[in-house]
Amino acid sequence: MARRKSPPDSKPLSKVYFLIWLLLIFTPRVDSSWWYIGALGARVICDNIPGLVNKQRQLCQRHPELMQSIGEGAKEWIKECQHQFRHQRWNCSTLDRDHTVFGRVMLRSSREAAFVYAISSAGVVYAITRACSQGEIKNCSCDGLKRRQASDHRGDFAWGGCSDNVNYGVKFAKAFVDARERMVKDARALMNLHNNRCGRMAVKRFMKLQCKCHGVSGSCSVRTCWLAMSDFRRTGDYLCKKYNTAVEVTMNQDGTGFMVADRDSKGSAKNELVYVENSPDYCLMDRATDETAET
Ligand SMILES: *[C@@H]1O[C@H](CO)[C@@H](O)[C@H](O)[C@H]1NC(C)=O
Ligand SMILES: *[C@@H]1O[C@H](CO)[C@@H](O)[C@H](O)[C@H]1NC(C)=O
Repeated sequence: MARRKSPPDSKPLSKVYFLIWLLLIFTPRVDSSWWYIGALGARVICDNIPGLVNKQRQLCQRHPELMQSIGEGAKEWIKECQHQFRHQRWNCSTLDRDHTVFGRVMLRSSREAAFVYAISSAGVVYAITRACSQGEIKNCSCDGLKRRQASDHRGDFAWGGCSDNVNYGVKFAKAFVDARERMVKDARALMNLHNNRCGRMAVKRFMKLQCKCHGVSGSCSVRTCWLAMSDFRRTGDYLCKKYNTAVEVTMNQDGTGFMVADRDSKGSAKNELVYVENSPDYCLMDRATDETAET
């Protein structure tokens, strides 16, 4: 018993189609990502990387050597993700030669997506900062801002050597990784921006002081110290904890931010990973992704 649409319905309906058409035109493709740079190996050609938005393409052209680092970094953070999720139903597995890298799983605004965005953003900070310190990047070098005397719990020391320039890494990661999310204003974009930031801060959090002793026969009366990043595992472990305590949020009324979904909760989402949707049943999801991968 098919009901015919009555005429008054058709006008709103065509409006809906128009909106969908607008969305299709102006929404950047959500299914491919800069993450794919990691799979391209040594030959990163900016025009051939699927899924870059214009701003990212420009940054790519201006800083080809940074793209190299981001590509190498991608292999590392994906490995770290797989390490952290090795006992989980969804184990951060990637699809070969697939521009989405993780498949349809990332379409959902789940806490798994929150983790992947955070660790990928952290991975970019890490890779770029390391490349800076190794002198591989023309436009950045060791952090030379710290030149004065300083002290820690063991006493005074002088800044020296090469401090990892994590601020450069953070700045570039922010410009590059966030570029896509800045093109749309919806819950998912806000969620990604928030989790990207969490990832960047996670790397900064584990900067540690490394020192060299000087003085008569190793008396260590004089020390020179520099700030270095810790092993990326520290960031992975930390973000995994954040994954476990991730906070569900809903968008606020005017769409400019979000609030903790659980109204009774007194906590803030500021330094937590946030997600909008519950995780799917990954047993079912797996089958769905297998099918799309095979076609
Ligand atoms: C993820 O789990 C699947 C199924 O258990 C397994 O075949 C695959 O090797 C795992 N991948 C990783 C990266 O651990
Ligand atoms: C180098 O870095 C400075 C600021 O750190 C920036 O203004 C400039 O555009 C960069 N140059 C290139 C070639 O990227």
